[in-house]
Amino acid sequence: MPMLMQVSFSVDPDHRVARVNRRTFGSFVEHMGRCVYTGLYEPDHPTADEDGFRRDVLELTRELGVTVVRYPGGNFVSNYRWEDGVGARELRPRRLDLAWGSIETNQFGLDQFMRWTAKAGVEPMIAINLGTRGVQEAVDLLEYANVPRGTKLSDWRVANGAEQPYGIRMWCLGNELDGPWQVGHKTAHEYGRLAIQTARAMRQVTPDLVLVACGSSSSNMPTFGSWENQVLELTYEEVDCISCHAYYDPGDGDLASFLASAADMDHFVSTVVEIADEVAENRRTSKRINLSFDEWNVWSIGRHQALGRLQGWPVAPRIIEDEYTVADAVVVGNLLISLLRHSDRVSAACLAQLVNVIAPIRTEPGGASWRQTIFHPFALTSRYAAGNVLRIEPAAPSYETAKYGDVPVIDAVATHDPDSGQTVLFIVNRSIDTAVELNADVRGVQARSLAEALTLSDPDQKATNTEGQPNRVIPRALDGVTLTDGTLHAALPPVSWSMVRLS
Ligand code: AHR
Repeated sequence: MPMLMQVSFSVDPDHRVARVNRRTFGSFVEHMGRCVYTGLYEPDHPTADEDGFRRDVLELTRELGVTVVRYPGGNFVSNYRWEDGVGARELRPRRLDLAWGSIETNQFGLDQFMRWTAKAGVEPMIAINLGTRGVQEAVDLLEYANVPRGTKLSDWRVANGAEQPYGIRMWCLGNELDGPWQVGHKTAHEYGRLAIQTARAMRQVTPDLVLVACGSSSSNMPTFGSWENQVLELTYEEVDCISCHAYYDPGDGDLASFLASAADMDHFVSTVVEIADEVAENRRTSKRINLSFDEWNVWSIGRHQALGRLQGWPVAPRIIEDEYTVADAVVVGNLLISLLRHSDRVSAACLAQLVNVIAPIRTEPGGASWRQTIFHPFALTSRYAAGNVLRIEPAAPSYETAKYGDVPVIDAVATHDPDSGQTVLFIVNRSIDTAVELNADVRGVQARSLAEALTLSDPDQKATNTEGQPNRVIPRALDGVTLTDGTLHAALPPVSWSMVRLS
């Protein structure tokens, strides 16, 4: 590869995909490791508020720009009894969490989570247990959460301190039930039947719910494709979305493929959309099923699997507290570019998870909290992506990857807000060693001045943020950017995620 590559593209309002969907900037809180306990909930912490919530984590959550938070799992939910987590704390049982080999103390449950979402200013997305439980327990939970009062379970909520119904709209019908690791793992047929019965009963309590059926837990599953097809054939009339989950492992030393992870996400999304639309066509319906990409991130999953199962049933153990690098942040920024590019069909997405467990926010018990590298591209994209998403097709050289074949060196998306006149470009240079000289034609969006240009990159692509050096990796000004006669000129460092704002 040459030491400087030329890339060009144009930002064209005719390439509109859809409006920016705020639910794209979701996250995920699972009862797993230290996500809840000593993550967002730690009554003895110096910053704890009257509910025992860490104020430092609440502040970072707001700064991250999270809009929706999925809860309480994940694998955890498939053997969870929601009623263990409500009512008087001293009466709440300690239970075995089979998913993570831990003890669940139930000191935090639905009512705390709902109070936390109100303080964080986020929408809840609740997953129900369709592993060990079924229709009745799902309806009970909905009655507890959404019925105003006058029934056994709604009155119990009121007695527990929540006068007003929660009005929770987004519900996941189970979690990853295609995976043999899941407690209550099912075939597509078994799951599809249970999901449709549950969905029907839930809609009798509250008709206008947004219901998400489980899709594949990864596009590498042997049942990927046939699972989506069979589940949608069985549930089409009653569900709104099908879920996708994807984790990208930086661990095997193939940086070139890792940096191209978004190419895999693009393929995953378009394959599921195709399957869903085929089912619609067979049924001669105009209804379209959208995607809830409700678990995605970078995760050293191979390293985690090598450690094996936890022994001794600990409480809130340190598990998968991955420390994220510069390269990981570039990939996370790129995955968000992919999600935005599919805003016409991805109606929600959740960065998994929020605190400590493969998370943008890290905490120490009784101590500090800090932003991991991946915090930054997420926070900036959530803050500035606005208006219409515009597809970008760069004229860029490709590079070869072992996993995904030839992949363009540059990936980008833009948003344009006709009301404010603001245009924002999100661009990734995936090259390991070569800077890119970019010329972008921005006449179509009538960009007149440069508001800000930031980049996240570092000569040390393995640099991380730690408790001792929490700001080792932060976005910095991208020098040398110019806007002349409708052409934006920028030099993008290798392995970089950049954001350019024009007004
Ligand atoms: O986010 C960690 C785990 O990954 C979740 O519990 C599960 O749904 C997925 O396999």
